[in-house]
Amino acid sequence: MFHFVVLATFLLFILPLYFFIFTKNKRICPKSSSGYVSKLPRSYPLIGSSLAIIANKGRYSQWFAEILSQCPTRTFVFHRALGKRQIVTANPSNVQHILKTKFSLYPKGDLVDFLGNGIFNADGANWKFGRQISSHEFNTKSLRKFVETVVDSELSNRLIPILSEAAANNSVLDLQDILQRFAFDNICKIAFGFDPEYLSPSLPQAAFAVAFEDAMRISSERFGYIFPVTWKLKRALNLGSEKQLKQAISQTREFAQNIVKEKKQELKDKSSLETVDLLSRIMNSGHSDDAFVIDMVISFIIAGRDTTSAALTWFFWLISCNFHVEKEILNEIMMENPKGSMYDEVKGMVYTHASLCESMRLYPPVPADTKEAAGDDVLPDGTVVKKGMRVTYHPYAMGRMENLWGKDWADFKPERWLERDESEGKLKFVGRDNFLYPVFQAGPRICLGKEMAFLQMKRVVAGVLRQFRVVPALGEAFQPVFISHLTSKMKGGFPVRIEVREGSKVNEL
Ligand code: HEM
Repeated sequence: MFHFVVLATFLLFILPLYFFIFTKNKRICPKSSSGYVSKLPRSYPLIGSSLAIIANKGRYSQWFAEILSQCPTRTFVFHRALGKRQIVTANPSNVQHILKTKFSLYPKGDLVDFLGNGIFNADGANWKFGRQISSHEFNTKSLRKFVETVVDSELSNRLIPILSEAAANNSVLDLQDILQRFAFDNICKIAFGFDPEYLSPSLPQAAFAVAFEDAMRISSERFGYIFPVTWKLKRALNLGSEKQLKQAISQTREFAQNIVKEKKQELKDKSSLETVDLLSRIMNSGHSDDAFVIDMVISFIIAGRDTTSAALTWFFWLISCNFHVEKEILNEIMMENPKGSMYDEVKGMVYTHASLCESMRLYPPVPADTKEAAGDDVLPDGTVVKKGMRVTYHPYAMGRMENLWGKDWADFKPERWLERDESEGKLKFVGRDNFLYPVFQAGPRICLGKEMAFLQMKRVVAGVLRQFRVVPALGEAFQPVFISHLTSKMKGGFPVRIEVREGSKVNEL
């Protein structure tokens, strides 16, 4: 036993420390044709770059962006403990290769167990099946109409009254929390026809929402383990954070199970014409296998709740410190809809659309996405991939690459997405290649809810900004910190005060 402890101490601490102090071992990015070589986190025998992982805890997205911006091919090979390698890339050609050209060689692997076999997590035949039936249902005109009705009612009956009250009392709200509640109610109503009333004036704690949050956080924290075997052991022995994760998963699944049970009963009682939500549509089209439907429910919640709320939280912060953008958006809202009604078409809001894209460039709701190579391969930039390696493409880093966005990449500039149409004299939105801006992913797995997300976000922006100014409660010096628990968050929330805009119609609601 004594010998084992001595050997383990030597291998785990003394040897790495020796290399840390006495060697100049610098990892390098693959050389570009220019021959430029830049520094990567130091790597040591056994523990790889674990010391750097520990040092960058809580800022992995920023750290990867810094490293990638120095790599000539915008790709680096990350050395994890026990010789494991992970490729991280911000190179659009590689992204296209992973997400489209060699799609079947880069499945998701098994990182996020609480998502089960839902569309978000599944691979192969399971994914194809989920994608096929959902994409059909996502694309109907009637769903779009339903989304509009749900969003508008949540906006006028819940969000606007809460903001009005905060304005009247000059109280501080956590806008991130409010937007998450808004998005949670919305997605539950759209996907399941069920109203959890999570956004109500008392801002109740909902056990399911907390469990869901815990499951996301603990799953994402697995990345920070130097030896993944540690969390796997904790999982096997049902200890600590893995025990908490197990409980959170079970609560999440119980919530989803109840939704499915009630939906089944409802479908028995009602005619299919009366039920318009996504789940009823899927079940009515003949898919009612419980396990499959429960996984779908969880996938829809993760897809719909955290993404739009994260996007809007950062958007409102950026608007609060970029007055010219706020002014342009207001002009557009009033021009589109001079009578000030919230419910009109938002399709023509090109400046708002550009501002949302620009905001998600800098603060993407899904900052990184990882696949697992199913075989050996070589990426277009020459990086060698071995079977079983994790391959991550990084939208957060990609939005910050000078070679992709120019010297002014750090500026919040919706104008970079706009062009003036000379014949009509109107602004025109100019989209980017999906592989350069993979904020909604790209290729066969591109986000199914993209159109629905823009529709919701634009209606919220129009509804809120027409009547209110959102002002950071901590003043102009407020510098939020970007963190990621699979989806992104503003660390500690976004405390704001709400001011009623002069001449707005808030009192008429
Ligand atoms: C700003 C809002 C949104 C962003 C940035 C976004 C982004 C993404 C991303 C990056 C993925 C790929 C995730 C992965 O494979 O790991 C994805 C997939 C997906 N999204 Fe979205 N999403 C948004 C809103 C929504 C909404 C509102 C829905 C509606 C329920 C939705 C439904 C889906 C679905 C079903 C998938 C799975 C597609 C597949 O794997 O085939 N998304 N989304």
